[in-house]
Amino acid sequence: MMKDIKKYQNAEKAKKQREQTLQTPWYYDGLENLCERLHPEKLVLQVSDIEELSWDTKVYRLTSANPKKLLSPFRAGQYIGLTAEINGVRTSRPYSLVSSPNNLAYYELGIKKKEGGFVSPYLLENLKVGDNLEATGPLGEFFYNTLFHGQNLVFIAGGCGITPFISMLRDITERTLPLNVYLIFGCLTEKDILFRKELEDIATRRSNIKLKFILSEPESDWKGACGFITKNEILNFIGNIEGKYFYVVGSLNMYQFIEGELNALNIPIHRIKYEAFGVPDDITKVMGWPNDIDGSKKVKVTLDFLSQGQKEQISFEASSIEPLLNSIERQKDLRLMIENGCRSGQCALCRTKMVSGKVFVPPEVTIREIDQNYGFIHPCISYPLTDIHLDLTLT
Ligand code: FES
Repeated sequence: MMKDIKKYQNAEKAKKQREQTLQTPWYYDGLENLCERLHPEKLVLQVSDIEELSWDTKVYRLTSANPKKLLSPFRAGQYIGLTAEINGVRTSRPYSLVSSPNNLAYYELGIKKKEGGFVSPYLLENLKVGDNLEATGPLGEFFYNTLFHGQNLVFIAGGCGITPFISMLRDITERTLPLNVYLIFGCLTEKDILFRKELEDIATRRSNIKLKFILSEPESDWKGACGFITKNEILNFIGNIEGKYFYVVGSLNMYQFIEGELNALNIPIHRIKYEAFGVPDDITKVMGWPNDIDGSKKVKVTLDFLSQGQKEQISFEASSIEPLLNSIERQKDLRLMIENGCRSGQCALCRTKMVSGKVFVPPEVTIREIDQNYGFIHPCISYPLTDIHLDLTLT
């Protein structure tokens, strides 16, 4: 017994000596800082410049609000989630970075006003130089992968879906990457072509980057292609599909159309990458939505949550045609913020345990099998069909 005590005392003494004499390894602090810079819990950004890009779109330049805290590096094609507080409702939206990943002095976002939207009209009307904004670090999987995507890339953009491609093109041209890019950009009218001058300039200067605009509602003097981005338009432009990898960004409606066209061209599904498309404008028009539920249906949502270490419960009424995350954020007095990024069911940051109830999820959204098996939902893209009970204390 005494022997063991002695042994323990010696071991403790040796440990203390080690702690006193060993310096912190040289790399320790550096790694801590690096991890924080790569995966920040949140960023505080300051608006340093605003440019009117078109009649309904502005480009915001954002720097770090804390000069000692550097901006996180990102891959061209990624987005950040911007938080805004509007009439007491704290919410956030993802916006693609349009700036080059080779310049981390600032981020730039192209924000288009969404008619009837909650956040973008507010930002466009109220955000001014000097304002601070909370944001996530860069997120998303929509970027070029040298191993899997090859050297022949077809970018298909609809409307403000051009934004991640601007960052990618800036990166490709700045680093003179040996890639062949075919960009097809569909818009309603000429005045909706964002970044037109820059795109035409890049296509003129770089023979490896080809550009085609297609307008669905052109003025009579438009001399370019008209209509939708059909399989014939795609094939005529790219020549053949051999070895090409397709990236698509646009609205949900556009995705449904393009999916059919790419299918008709026999493009294998693993050669197509779709960016998160946000929530549908009208969920009742989405395939699979139950016919007997209309916009007037209300359900009861019950939430279990932690307040000062205690589990509490609250119930409120929510609309069936609004994503659960939005309904929860509307409970402004609760000040509950469920972590979120894409708001499209892709990043899984908002993963929440559903104790009971039934939700509708658009068929394009794939929820991880393990989440489904254990009753977790993504409230950003889940619409309540019945009364719902969520437990926010379980992750
Ligand atoms: S916020 Fe990305 S899955 Fe919900």
